[in-house]
Amino acid sequence: MKNIVTLIIGVLLFHSTKGQNALFIPDSLMGKEINLTLQNGTHQFYSGQPTITMGANGNILGPTLVLNQGDFINFTVNNQLMNTTTIHWHGLHVAPENDGGPHTPILPNTTWSPSFTIMDKAATYWYHPHLHHFTNEHVSKGISGIIIVKDSIEAQLSLPRTYGIDDFPLVIQTKDFDVDNQIIVESNADDVVMVNATINPYLDVPSQVVRFRILNGSSQRTFNLGLSNNQDFYQIASDGGLLNSSFQTTRLLLAPGERAEILIDFVGMNGQTTYLKSYASELSNGIYGATYPGMGQGLSMTGYNPNPLNGSDFDIMQFVVVPQTSNPIITVPLNLATVTPIPSNTSNITRTLTFTPVTMGPDQLNGDFLINNASMDINIINYTIPFNNTEIWELINQSAISHPFHIHDVQFYILSRNGVAAPINEQGRKDVVLVKPQETVRFIAKFEDFYNDTLPYMYHCHLLPHEDGGMMGQFIVENPVITGYSLSDNDFTIHPNPTDGAIHITSKKDFPIEKIELFNALGQLLQTNRLADIQDYKLFTNNFQSGVFIIKIYSGKNIITKNIIVH
Ligand code: C2O
Ligand code: CU
Ligand code: CU
Repeated sequence: MKNIVTLIIGVLLFHSTKGQNALFIPDSLMGKEINLTLQNGTHQFYSGQPTITMGANGNILGPTLVLNQGDFINFTVNNQLMNTTTIHWHGLHVAPENDGGPHTPILPNTTWSPSFTIMDKAATYWYHPHLHHFTNEHVSKGISGIIIVKDSIEAQLSLPRTYGIDDFPLVIQTKDFDVDNQIIVESNADDVVMVNATINPYLDVPSQVVRFRILNGSSQRTFNLGLSNNQDFYQIASDGGLLNSSFQTTRLLLAPGERAEILIDFVGMNGQTTYLKSYASELSNGIYGATYPGMGQGLSMTGYNPNPLNGSDFDIMQFVVVPQTSNPIITVPLNLATVTPIPSNTSNITRTLTFTPVTMGPDQLNGDFLINNASMDINIINYTIPFNNTEIWELINQSAISHPFHIHDVQFYILSRNGVAAPINEQGRKDVVLVKPQETVRFIAKFEDFYNDTLPYMYHCHLLPHEDGGMMGQFIVENPVITGYSLSDNDFTIHPNPTDGAIHITSKKDFPIEKIELFNALGQLLQTNRLADIQDYKLFTNNFQSGVFIIKIYSGKNIITKNIIVH
């Protein structure tokens, strides 16, 4: 709050002076071994007292991870914080055990080492802590990093992609500081705007087409992005992939957790400056960041109204246009990737999630909020989803404030907002959708590739006080074997049988083999082979004595027993 004065002075001076601080660009990490060390630190946001922060491989934020689709990556996350935390790969399609949600705590002085293949499409993702009740604290204090996924389709497009030259990550956040320059975690007085942890930043941009990978990493604030000269810009990607074609616009709404890649055409602007702003005066009420955070003036939120950012247009950062680089991109491509939405008639089920405040009435904006009348209970699985199910989720907001809804595991396609198609730039792959008061949003997603009968994925509001306050639930994608269904011998083939070398045990696609036990004719267990859910397994029998053996194939809740003969 003490910074309101600084901010007002800053706003007054802004257009006559250059932004004061060069934008910080996080280092990039590439390759197949990614090491992150979470650490406590300090950062000099203001002169005087340093601010206590948390970061990955540094005092604040974290390196940008540049990963290729198809690469198998070994991560090590070493927690040198004084606190337990987790690291979640927001937007990436990974198995529950690699997802870094609240069930995968990393204790202080321990290391978490997930390994997985990058299956996602080229886009901008992010990583952040996700410990239940502490997400806001760990994110607000600084841990957040960008993940850039590259793929062969993106590589063929004529797009800027030189990191730090014509391709920049922008992590936009607002925070609140106390009189000792310390970050106040639970606050609606987030009156300090920063990009990549830089207050009042400027960035030199070449006079060509420049790509920005924007993350709204704020705890609560939605931005209504635009340029001060009202120049058009072009959205090329939504949360989880490139759009069909460049979306030309002067405004872009970005809620917490959402990402957008945009192109700005600075050709011919050498020597000029322009500002990225949030035109929050244009935000409709009922969004955190608008004049009124709830629908209607009767609803108040503690500390919200004195915050000068709410409902006003403010600068986020300054662009200073400098000479072109060699081999610049100077035109904005029209066609991008082919987005293939999931047809709505392939859905097996529609699930309805209704958002309500814990208490109705004028104080309701102060929370907490419920999904289907329930608050997050780490011991309760809210949905069990059959493996490979295609589902429609219908989100109904019966509270007075907007909630950016996020789901793990999948990218989804928005089918409708209040019965009508979503705007063009929301028709690509998404993992966060802002649901306004009284609005019904329907999306479709397929729950494929990963399942785990005990470890859930999360869905939640990405306003971090709401998430920490229980506006979250859990789902399991269950083992593909349907309960009560017994696999028959026909579901597995064993060949050759009899054998004298190795035998192949092959399963039908939806019945992966998880474990194989081998017994001798007397029923004594000789070997146990735990498999990572493969469809085809080779069991070597070369050094077996001749005779009859019994193998048990475990697939989900089913066990198949077969005899094999070794010559
Ligand atoms: Cu960005 Cu479950 O989180
Ligand atoms: Cu996530
Ligand atoms: Cu919410």
